[in-house]
Amino acid sequence: MQKYLQDNKDRFLDELLDLLRIPSVSADSKFKDDTRRAADFVRQSIEAAGADWVKIFETPGHPIVYGEKIVNPAAPTVLIYGHYDVQPADPYELWDSPPFEPVIKNERIYARGACDDKGQFYMHVKALEMMIATKSLPCNVKIMIEGEEEVGSDHLGEFVKSHRDMLACDTILISDTSIIANDVPSIEVGLRGLTYLEVEVVGANRDLHSGVYGGAVANPINVLCEMIASLHDENGHITIPGFYDKVEELTADARAAMNEAPFDLAEYKQDLLIEDVRGEANYTTIERTSIRPTLDVNGIWGGYVGEGAKTVLPSKAHAKISMRLVPNQTDKEIEEKFTKHFLSIAPPSVKVSVKPHHGGLPYVNPTDSIEYEAASMAMEESFGKKPIPTRGGGSIPIVALFEQELGRKSILMGFGLDIDALHSPNESYGLFNYYKGIETIPLFFKHYAALKKE
Ligand code: BES
Ligand code: MN
Ligand code: MN
Repeated sequence: MQKYLQDNKDRFLDELLDLLRIPSVSADSKFKDDTRRAADFVRQSIEAAGADWVKIFETPGHPIVYGEKIVNPAAPTVLIYGHYDVQPADPYELWDSPPFEPVIKNERIYARGACDDKGQFYMHVKALEMMIATKSLPCNVKIMIEGEEEVGSDHLGEFVKSHRDMLACDTILISDTSIIANDVPSIEVGLRGLTYLEVEVVGANRDLHSGVYGGAVANPINVLCEMIASLHDENGHITIPGFYDKVEELTADARAAMNEAPFDLAEYKQDLLIEDVRGEANYTTIERTSIRPTLDVNGIWGGYVGEGAKTVLPSKAHAKISMRLVPNQTDKEIEEKFTKHFLSIAPPSVKVSVKPHHGGLPYVNPTDSIEYEAASMAMEESFGKKPIPTRGGGSIPIVALFEQELGRKSILMGFGLDIDALHSPNESYGLFNYYKGIETIPLFFKHYAALKKE
């Protein structure tokens, strides 16, 4: 298998670069046809890898690509999940090279989606090709690559519910997360949940002259800023009543253990060019980005933002707000608590409305399962070091739904790094990581099949 990888290295990379040239931005309808083209590309690539069959399933949004390779009905079945959609690349001017014209620089692939998640799910397509070509696939494989992860997997939930039999499996394998460093392998055993919503604050029925009316009529932007500022106290705690009611508090031992993972605060600050970090009092940076919930404004707009100055008292202000959730919070519960609180703090001089977007539940994995053991053994074999279990800060909402609907846990065997700049300008993915993933995935299958037999 190593030989197959060596012999096909360049082609494996060229194919990924072709996929990265397709701007499959799920959030922006301007890219609808491109997103569709990406789905076709994925279908063809899974077919070429040697799957028994592959099909594109239409949804009211972007299509889902699904294929199967059944080698032996008695063998265990692994469902692979990934996403071919990417985040918007804006602002384009902050990219050193165009986001959809991939370039290789310093042993890294630069393009939107290079790591999240095209580079990572394509490792599975290539690993599958390799195992089929070398007749060394010990498990049945089902592979599902969707096109709406970055916008909340709206239609995938319905699809999973209505295709439970087709998707039946023993475990789920996903590469859409990160490791600590290339010489410190790790496996994420947790994901945060998410509540995402949009708020609107409306003052007068029209934009007003800020001299004639200013001081007497509410300025919705001023009001929105005050309301947002009040959502945290001086210790960085979120002030929404009941927000922490269900938050699981870890034991002192568990907290001490997670803080033993290698983490260099100075390096972290240097990478981001910040003088200091900021967050909830009495928690470390590792804890703040994994076991603690957060509330952040993702975007805020209103009034005049064109060139020069315009003296105006705007009629409306908007913000997009997200909250990262931890066990045992639920997205619905937090959406309700936020909405109730946010409306309650609105002064009578404005009208406030809250519009929910998408959400997802938090997720945790045990480290004593067969699938965790298989992933751990696979990474130990390919990296030469036993991976450390970590709790991740990001969200993949479908993972909790897989557990609900399919009754199966998902193993988050990702190969990204923090420096990959996911969702940022100049996203990249290391060639080392791409090839290491392709090398490690077949080892997971090998160990998983062996452990299941025991
Ligand atoms: N791959 C990320 C999630 C991720 C990144 C997990 C790094 C762990 C480490 C995924 O594509 C993503 O960005 N998810 C969104 C959620 C979605 C509902 C928009 C997120 O976390 O913001
Ligand atoms: Mn992703
Ligand atoms: Mn993402």
